Amino acid sequence: MKVLIINGPNLNMLGIREPDIYGKETYATLETICRDAAKEFGFDTAEIFQSNHEGAIVDKIQEAYGTFDGIVINPAAYTHTSVAILDALKAVALPAVEVHISAVEEREDFRQVSYPGMACFATITGEGLDGYRHALQVLSEHLLAER
Ligand code: DQA
Repeated sequence: MKVLIINGPNLNMLGIREPDIYGKETYATLETICRDAAKEFGFDTAEIFQSNHEGAIVDKIQEAYGTFDGIVINPAAYTHTSVAILDALKAVALPAVEVHISAVEEREDFRQVSYPGMACFATITGEGLDGYRHALQVLSEHLLAER
């Protein structure tokens, strides 16, 4: 099983950006958590991608077609604006899990819509970086059940 983990804008600033909301752990720690969890839940390939650019994320999702079995995505601020990322996820039609570090549902009104989330079969919020481990578990169980 192959998983693509996508992180949107400003997630490379983890540990520096708003630590009261996103915690003090760095992006490098997040990558380690994802690699370890991917192994734990039976993925033999886990690619981790981060971009601050919407088009680069769309390109990456398109490239996943025929290459990866599933996607874990934190679109970050693009969650609340990007029909392009939603359409890319729908185009490749790969099973996808949306993850957010913070409890977005308890935050500002403008964070209450998720466009990419409309193409994801599960959403995990408010679990901090461990939410990625949970997302990988949910994706793995989904892919194994599909076999
Ligand atoms: C986020 C929540 C978004 O609203 C925000 O723009 C982010 C991070 C999260 O992981 O909690 O950049 O996706």
